[in-house]
Order: sequence, then structure tokens, then C-alpha cells
Amino acid sequence: FNVIASDAMAMLQVTNEYVELMDKEMVIVTDKKVVIKNLDGELMSRASYIAELDASDIEKGTYPHYMLKEIDEQPLVMRKIIQTYQEENGKLSIPGDIANAVAEADRVYIIACGTSYHAGLVGKQFIETWAKVPAEVHVASEFSYNMPLLSEKPLFIFISQSGETADSRAVLVQVKKLGHKALTLTNVPGSTLSREADYTLLLNAGPEIAVASTKAYTAQIAVLAILAAVTAESRGKELDFDLVKELGIIGNAMEALCDQKDEMEMIAREYLTVTRNAFFIGRGLDYFVCLEGSLKLKEISYIQAEGFAGGELKHGTIALIEDGTPVIALATQEHVNLSIRGNVKEVTARGANPCVISLKGLEEADDRFVLPEVHPELAPLVSVIPLQLISYYAALHRGCDVDKPRNLAKSVTVE
Ligand code: AGP
Repeated sequence: FNVIASDAMAMLQVTNEYVELMDKEMVIVTDKKVVIKNLDGELMSRASYIAELDASDIEKGTYPHYMLKEIDEQPLVMRKIIQTYQEENGKLSIPGDIANAVAEADRVYIIACGTSYHAGLVGKQFIETWAKVPAEVHVASEFSYNMPLLSEKPLFIFISQSGETADSRAVLVQVKKLGHKALTLTNVPGSTLSREADYTLLLNAGPEIAVASTKAYTAQIAVLAILAAVTAESRGKELDFDLVKELGIIGNAMEALCDQKDEMEMIAREYLTVTRNAFFIGRGLDYFVCLEGSLKLKEISYIQAEGFAGGELKHGTIALIEDGTPVIALATQEHVNLSIRGNVKEVTARGANPCVISLKGLEEADDRFVLPEVHPELAPLVSVIPLQLISYYAALHRGCDVDKPRNLAKSVTVE
């Protein structure tokens, strides 16, 4: 038989042979043949391809949910990314044309949606602080209708786990028409965003099935770090630390965190079982992770959750703090540690139930959880893991469908 599917993964149990359909094509499918025509009725000939996906990669194994399995895979994914982008001499490398494209750009525009957008916020920091290339991050659906004034030699970086997100693709189509160069960071080789961009960097995170993105987020940040570090080197601005070594330490820290699930379940029970809302606060890189933590919690547990920059609280949001409101605060950045601690005191004085997650070395007596010591600029790779696990357990305790939350799809292929 022949069958139509929106994603190769969906039919992997029955076949690994696929034929791609392009925009504005029609297809007539019978059990014996597949006929593709364009809108003028002309026949289109296209060879099939073999999907290089292993059916065992998309099985849940002994895990109750894909999301938990994918959270646990993160240490392995870190190691795989290091291996993929490391040369025999131990140095990190990416294809020369990609490093040149970033190094020669006068400004990088990062375009993404949802979790990938949150990874982009962290990536912007790396590209600016390490490679010294100005960078902006945009929500794709806004960018396509409200394009900012572009620089003279821009490079567009599209971040997309699926490589199929319609909002991001709409921007890619627009910027290609304008003649600009585009690089896609994706988990899916051969996906639309990969095919249509000039360059692709793969995340190598393995198939991500749960709607809530976890391992793709950390993979995106790690690949962005490598991209920024290699670009920095090509621009003669070497990092003052060894990224390969630090990513190795991250992998071990992730493993240690994944081993503390009982503790995470306890935190979820303590803070999120009966509440109707929750706040995540942080400053700098921690703020970006708070945005991701709050998205994770709201999309799978349906608890109204907001991520806020600590300093913005007093400009309005603090009015929402009531007796017992859970406020999860991240404290992994030394230069803003005192300030975020001040914000925690402000919300506690108004009745909030604070849950401080700090980085080893910055911890204080009442902190609820201390993260293993890692390089602070890479802290988002580890601080997100408790937030993923807490969201998972909160959703579980509330009886939600963790892997398939209501109203959501894994690949958002419509505007
Ligand atoms: C995250 O948990 C979401 N499911 C969602 O925000 C997702 O990151 C977004 O739709 C973008 O998808 P993409 O990375 O496949 O482009």
C-alpha cells in the first residue's frame, strides 16, 4: 500500500521509504502507485528516499512517558554533540562556510518559536559575548508581519527542532526572497527548514516525540555554544575557558540531576499540587531559562505560569502575589545574585512561597535545591532540568496527558 503522512516518523513502523511533496503539488495515491502533479496538471517525477531513522529510537522502552525518557537522554545527547562537532585533535569545528557566514555577518537574526525561541535567547548571549557579532532574537510569527530594519549584511539563523514550523518557514521564504543567507539548526535532517536554508547544523538529539520539548532545547543551546565558540576563534577572539571540557562537565551534572527525580517530585508536590498559578523569576541567563520553565509548566500541567525578569516584578506583576503563590527563582549568575535574592525577599514579604534553585557556590541556607557546579555561562543547560522534571511531575499529579497536552501538536505546520 501507499500512505500519506505528515511526518516520516509517523509511519516508521511500516516503511522507511518516502517520497516528498513540495508546495502547490497534488498527489494521487493508490495501493500500487503514487502520481504527483503540479497545479497545472503536469506530472512531476521524484525519486523516493530511505529515511535514516531507527524504529527503536521512537520507542518508549520502560519509560511511562516519552517526556521522561527524553529528559533522561540529555546527558547522552550532550556527549553525542561533543563527538559530532569535535575533530580528531580535540578541537571543536563546524563546516568552514558556516563559520565564515557568521563571522562575516554584521548582525545575526535568530528566528524561532516557543522553546526554540528560548534557546535562541541564550544563543544570542553566546554569539555576542564570545564571537562579538551583534545578534537579535525574534519570535517568527511577529517577525514575518513586522520586519525590523535589517542590517547591510545579515545572517539569519533559524532554530527549529522539527524543521517544519510554518511561522519560521514563512520568515525563511521572505528572507530568501530578499537574497539573505540562512542557517538552520534542526533536529531533523532533510526537513523543510533545512532544505530551504543555505546551511544546516544538526542537533543530533534523536527523535523527540513528546510535545513538550526538552532534549532539543539543551541540544540547541549546546550547538549554539559551539557555533559561537568556533566563530569567536575564527574572528581571533578565543574563549577564556575550554568549551569541550565544560560541556563534558555539563553532561555529568545533567546525569546527577536526572538521578534526583524523587526530590523533583517532592518539589512539584510541595509547590504545585493545588495552586492555580506559578511564577518563575530570574535575571540575565536565568530569566531566559525562567521563560522556558514557565512554558514547560503551563503547556503540560495547565497551571497558569509566567516567567519574569526579577527586576520587572515591581513594575506590575508583584500585584499578583498572594499568600502561598509559588515563586520559583533561579540564582546561577553571580553578578545578579544579590538582586535576585532581593526580589525573592520582596515576594516572600507579600506571602509568596519561594523555591530558590541556586548554583553551587552561590547557595544560601534556605535554598530549596542546589545545582551542581558548572561554568556559569552554560548554567541554562543544567538549571532547566529541575524545571522540566518539576513540570513533568506537576502534570502527572494533576492527571494530565503529559506527552500529548490538549490543544497542541508536536509540529506546528499551520500559521
Ligand atoms: C515546546 O515545548 C513546544 N512544544 C513549542 O513551543 C515548540 O518549541 C515550538 O512549536 C517550536 O517548534 P520547533 O522547534 O519544531 O520549530
